[in-house]
Amino acid sequence: MKNFELYNPTNLIFGKGQITKISTLIPAGSKVLVIYGGGSIKSNGVYDQTIAALKGFEVIEFAGIEANPQYSTLLKALEVIQSEKIDFLLAVGGGSVIDGTKFLSSAAMYEGDSPWDILANRIRTVKGMPFGTILTLPATGSEMNSGAVVSRAETNEKLAMGGPGLFPQFSICDPSVVASIPERQLANGVADAYTHVLEQYMTYPTEAHLQDRFSESIMQTLIEVAPRIMKDPSNYEVAANFMWCCTLALNGLIQKGVPTDWSVHMIAHEITAHYGVDHARTLAIVLPNAYHHQFDKKKEKLAQYAERIWGISTGTVEEKAKAAIKKTETFYQSLGIKTRLRDYTDDYQGFAAKAAQSLQDHGLSKLGEHGDITPQVAEKILEMSY
Ligand code: NZQ
Ligand code: ZN
Repeated sequence: MKNFELYNPTNLIFGKGQITKISTLIPAGSKVLVIYGGGSIKSNGVYDQTIAALKGFEVIEFAGIEANPQYSTLLKALEVIQSEKIDFLLAVGGGSVIDGTKFLSSAAMYEGDSPWDILANRIRTVKGMPFGTILTLPATGSEMNSGAVVSRAETNEKLAMGGPGLFPQFSICDPSVVASIPERQLANGVADAYTHVLEQYMTYPTEAHLQDRFSESIMQTLIEVAPRIMKDPSNYEVAANFMWCCTLALNGLIQKGVPTDWSVHMIAHEITAHYGVDHARTLAIVLPNAYHHQFDKKKEKLAQYAERIWGISTGTVEEKAKAAIKKTETFYQSLGIKTRLRDYTDDYQGFAAKAAQSLQDHGLSKLGEHGDITPQVAEKILEMSY
C-alpha cells in the first residue's frame, strides 16, 4: 500500500429536511451569493426552502450556471461578487453549479492577471472564498471534494482545477431532491459515479484489500439501485443509497494508498469540449476502448472485478477480463446510455487527432496509472470509440 494523507474538512449533512441547518452553518452577518442553474430548484421547492432558511442574511442571487459551467457566465458572477462585496458563496445545484462556485471561490481570491490561468496553468487553490453547497443531483461527488471542471465554448476547452482550499465548508445532501431528477440525469449520475470508482480501482493489484472492497461495495450498490431509482426516483430509501454512493465514489477515500487512472475522464472531457455531450456519456464512450487498449496492464484487476462484481468465475484471466469490459459496456447501455461517438454526432472523422492535440497543448501527455497514455495513445483510443 502506498503512503497517504487523508484530509477532508467538508461537513457533510445528510438526510431529510436538512436545508434548514444552513442558517447555523453560514457565519452570522455574511453577505451571501446564492448560485444556481437553469431553474430546476424553482420547480422542485429547493429554492423556496433555501431562501426561507437564509432569513436574516443579506442575500443576492446569481442564476443561469449551465450544465458544464461556462467561463463566460462565471466571469459575470465574479463581477457580482466583487461589486456586491460578497463574503460567502452558496451553490444550490448539481456538479456544474458546485464546480462553477469552486471556480468563483478561487477566482475571487486570485491575484494574477486572468482567472483563466487558474485552469490553463493548473494553479492549485490553497485559500478560496468560503462556500457551502446544497446538492440537488447525485453524480460528481463535487459536494465533498476539492476539484472542479470548467468549460470555455469559444475555444473548445474543458479543464480541471482544484486544491485544498476548494473543499466546501458544508454540503447538505437531502435525498428527497432526487424525486424531481429526469431519467437522463439519473442515468448520468449512476454512470458518472460508477466510472469514478473504476478510475480509482481498475489499475493493477497492490494488496490494498480494504480499498478494493470499498470500491467493490460502491459498484455493487450502484448496480443494485440503478434500475430502482430509474423506475421510481421518489423512493427515498433508494435515493439515499444512490446519493451516498455518489459522494463516496469521489470524496477521496477510495483512492488513498492506491494507484489511480483518470485517463478516461481526461480523454472524455475532450468530447464534451467539442460536442457538448453530457459528461457521463462521454465516459461510457471512452472507457471500454481505453480498457481494451490497456488490456495487458489491467487484465488482472479486470479479472478480479469480473469475479467479484459480475460473478464470472470460469475461464482464464484474459477471458474473465474481456467479459468484464463487455459487462461494463452493457451496464452503461442498460441505463439508456449509448457507447459509441457516432451515436452522438455524424461529424466525428478527424476528431481524435484534434483531441490529441488539445491534450498535448494542455500538458496532459502522460495519463493513466503508468503515465503511458500519451496524446498518440489517446488518439488511438478515441478512434477505436468512433
Ligand atoms: O440547471 P438546472 O435547471 O438546475 O438543471 C440541472 C441541469 O440541467 C438538472 N438538475 C439538477 N438537479 C436537479 C435537476 N433537474 C431536476 N431536479 C433536480 N433535483 O440536471 C442538469 C445537469 O446538471 P449538472 O450539474 O450539469 O450535472 P452533474 O451533476 O452531472 O455535473 C456535471 C458537471 O460536473 C463535472 C462534469 O465535467 C460536468 O461539468 N464533474 C465534476 C467533478 C468534480 N467536481 O469532482 C467530477 C466529475 O467527473 C465531473 O467531471
Ligand atoms: Zn466524472
